[in-house]
Amino acid sequence: MRIAFVGKGGSGKTTLAALFARWLAAEGAPVLAIDADINQHLATALGLSPDEAAALPSLADHLPALKEHLRGTNPRIRSAASMVKTTPPGSGSRLLRLGERSPVVADVERDANGVRLLVTGPFSEDDLGVACYHSKVGAAELLLNHLVDRDDEYVVVDMTAGADSFASGMFTRFDLTVLVVEPTARGLAVHRQYAGYADGFDVAIVAAGNKIRTDGDRAFLETGLGDRLAAAFTDSEYVRAMERGRFLGLDHLEPENARGLRAIRSLLDATPRDWARFQRQTVEFHVRNARAWANATAGEDLTVQVDPGFALHV
Ligand SMILES: Nc1ncnc2c1ncn2[C@@H]1O[C@H](COP(=O)(O)OP(=O)(O)OP(=O)(O)O)[C@@H](O)[C@H]1O
Ligand SMILES: [Mg+2]
Repeated sequence: MRIAFVGKGGSGKTTLAALFARWLAAEGAPVLAIDADINQHLATALGLSPDEAAALPSLADHLPALKEHLRGTNPRIRSAASMVKTTPPGSGSRLLRLGERSPVVADVERDANGVRLLVTGPFSEDDLGVACYHSKVGAAELLLNHLVDRDDEYVVVDMTAGADSFASGMFTRFDLTVLVVEPTARGLAVHRQYAGYADGFDVAIVAAGNKIRTDGDRAFLETGLGDRLAAAFTDSEYVRAMERGRFLGLDHLEPENARGLRAIRSLLDATPRDWARFQRQTVEFHVRNARAWANATAGEDLTVQVDPGFALHV
């Protein structure tokens, strides 16, 4: 199952993604965490030191090899260079499975205290003016498009802040999207705005309240979000200790926050995987992307990459 954490800058996406990934791993579930934010903080939130985090290999740096691998013998894709972030898998493509060692992914993946971690790579000074951050995050989109994950395997993605996470088709590649909301009027307004972007795309979105300090905060979110509120996380001493570099076992997490993580897992587990939707949306965004810019950039018609008879399944 795949889950994304989105929300306003600073709302707690990285914190909750890291806690949720650690929680799943502690429960014995296979879990791959992906940092798909322009500001890469998931590694340190999972307990790596800043030096360890800075030394991580990035998916973006391995993008050419990833494309070559995923293309496999798919005759609809002329070359790895013709592969763009939205290129859908088709017959002949190599698919990725979490339980199988895939050379390209294994080169990039690292262990972060029991959680498998992939990072898309930071936006560096060299990128200024020449690369957009979407081209970095595109590596994660390509990977998700070729991933055949089972219901008992988990992919947890920390998405970029703000409305940008809805700027590519990646937001449609999850079983569940958690919108992290702080108990402020601005938090609710941002929730409304993002939920509006997702409307009409057949994606499951729930809200997680975060940094709740008082009963008033909780009531405010309950009134403002109604049934959408799936979990409520308090302003947490456990998280503040993490922020100070002190990582305690999850048995030290406040009970109400542990309940929040459990509630999110229950919801995710109860969401039926819809492979047909994934494939439909993968194709829809690819065709849109091809017509908007990718055809012009590649100098060829990339809509021919769509394999009409193809669908992923376990
Ligand atoms: N429940 C919480 N209790 C206490 N502090 C929290 C909680 N959630 C998040 N924080 C703190 O709020 C700050 C922002 O959190 P975090 O980095 O997770 O947000 P984000 O949404 O990922 O931010 P960005 O938009 O920069 O990626 C951090 O200092 C984090 O420790
Ligand atoms: Mg973050």
